Amino acid sequence: MEIRIDILRRNSPSDKPYLQSVMYRYENKAATAASALSEINSREGIKDINGAGVGRIRWECSCMQKKCGACAMVINGVPRLACGARLSEYEKNGYVRLEPLKKFPPVADLIVDRQAVFEALKKMKIWAETEVLPPEITDELAYEASRCLQCGCCLEVCPNFFAGEGAQFFGMAAAVPASRLIDQLLPSDRRELSEAYRRNVYEGCGRSLACRDICPAGIDIERLLVNSNSAAVWKGLFRKW
Ligand code: SF4
Ligand code: SF4
Ligand code: FES
Repeated sequence: MEIRIDILRRNSPSDKPYLQSVMYRYENKAATAASALSEINSREGIKDINGAGVGRIRWECSCMQKKCGACAMVINGVPRLACGARLSEYEKNGYVRLEPLKKFPPVADLIVDRQAVFEALKKMKIWAETEVLPPEITDELAYEASRCLQCGCCLEVCPNFFAGEGAQFFGMAAAVPASRLIDQLLPSDRRELSEAYRRNVYEGCGRSLACRDICPAGIDIERLLVNSNSAAVWKGLFRKW
């Protein structure tokens, strides 16, 4: 099989992006956008469709098993993990277009600066300062929340999220890990986190749930939101009343 791979490239954050296309041959039906990028980078003297040299393509990866979130990028217009995007899915189009996530500052080629995702976790103080004993029976909600890869695909499709200075809404990449603690902490220990959840998630979320269907980990975002909204926002209001 042969497919054209279009890559939106840039040399530095301030450079104008440009599209470079490479014809890529593969035998294995399981080949993915990530395995193609690795192979292209390992070949010497590879040329693009215009005969120009293809320098090393900068992109991020680690596990190659849809477990770390590092390889998130926009593939044919949809944010997803490159190691989960089989080339065979795109055969009928005849091309695969790889672009960096657009909600984060560009670094080079397919690499973006996702520091905002981790800063949001720090600002919301998503950690426990008191002892949290593991329940005897595995807590389903906590397990669901623990599967978040911090990949940022949900932020890419969220109409309310932007990663700029002064942003107050942190989106699902913060809400999902927060929901794990909200579920496990005693109400008396989660006051500060509940306040952060209300301020940085609840008040900015438009409930469109565009994030739900895009999550590459298949996390049941709606269920986590319902639980966190109830525990961190509504129960507090009822107590006040
Ligand atoms: S429900 Fe809508 S507004 Fe809220 S985080 Fe998801 S995509 Fe964003
Ligand atoms: S909720 Fe899903 S899409 Fe969002 S950061 Fe976590 S794993 Fe990625
Ligand atoms: S390389 Fe880890 S999720 Fe793709």
